[in-house]
Amino acid sequence: MFSSQSLTVLSLLAPLVSAQACKLQFDGRIPATLTAAGFDATNQFFGSSNVFGKGLAFSQLIQLPAITGSLFDTNTVPVAVTISDKSIFNGQTGFRRAELIPASNSGTDASTTGVKTLHFSVMKDAQRPLNLSHEYQLVFLESNDFSTNQVVLKTGTILGQATANPDTLQLFGNVNSNPPQVLFSAPFTPGVFNNFAVTLDFNKLTTQVFFSTGTAPLKAVTKALANDVSGQGQFHFGVLKKPTDGGADITKSGFQEAGIDEGVIYGGIFQEDSAGAAACVSLSA
Ligand SMILES: *[C@@H]1O[C@H](CO)[C@@H](O)[C@H](O)[C@H]1NC(C)=O
Repeated sequence: MFSSQSLTVLSLLAPLVSAQACKLQFDGRIPATLTAAGFDATNQFFGSSNVFGKGLAFSQLIQLPAITGSLFDTNTVPVAVTISDKSIFNGQTGFRRAELIPASNSGTDASTTGVKTLHFSVMKDAQRPLNLSHEYQLVFLESNDFSTNQVVLKTGTILGQATANPDTLQLFGNVNSNPPQVLFSAPFTPGVFNNFAVTLDFNKLTTQVFFSTGTAPLKAVTKALANDVSGQGQFHFGVLKKPTDGGADITKSGFQEAGIDEGVIYGGIFQEDSAGAAACVSLSA
């Protein structure tokens, strides 16, 4: 039994503990001093050599729009990832793609072990709208053997599925499940950041989603759902545009129109350690 005195001490301590920032696994929040050219050089935020079209460099596709940061940006700035007709990576003529991968995320590092919470915010780039006749992958974990995406945020018209409203953010679980499960979906609200936190339990193989728009604190929008997040891998943040029709290998076939200039704005990319009884998940900065 607690004495009334120790209860008072506990209730005073509790807010301090919950206000404490969780331990970070990686931090992709960009200081305002980093220029687009800074993404071409080795840096502490994102890898400089992947993923973008052959012959390109990040400085040709990264934009740093002068807009207010996301809920979790504190003295850090949003970054837009854009694609063009030249965004053909590794001979994948069926795709147009450009994605940032956290610098420390080798594919076998601790970002895909234990219990981790991935944070990111996405905003439409009003100057570079997506074409919602296509399917886009905006954020995904690709397994280290490249055989699946254990979790993937999509928008647009999903290939091989009836999409009621393509102007929707749909967070899918492992795409090798039959059928793939939509863990959470929400309208892709324009003009504001759409904020996600996704707790990935690599031991229990579950995924829990937290969400808000604008400056509202995150709220749990699912419980921890069964989802096979095994297989480690790398987290991608950007634009992967699929063709409107496919065939056997959509990486190499299908229709992509010419003359595109499309992008998505990201803010507040980081990952925190949510292992242990405290299950640390930051709901606001
Ligand atoms: C959208 O994509 C489809 C298929 O690639 C294309 O036919 C159409 O012209 C595009 N629409 C716009 C507005 O760019």
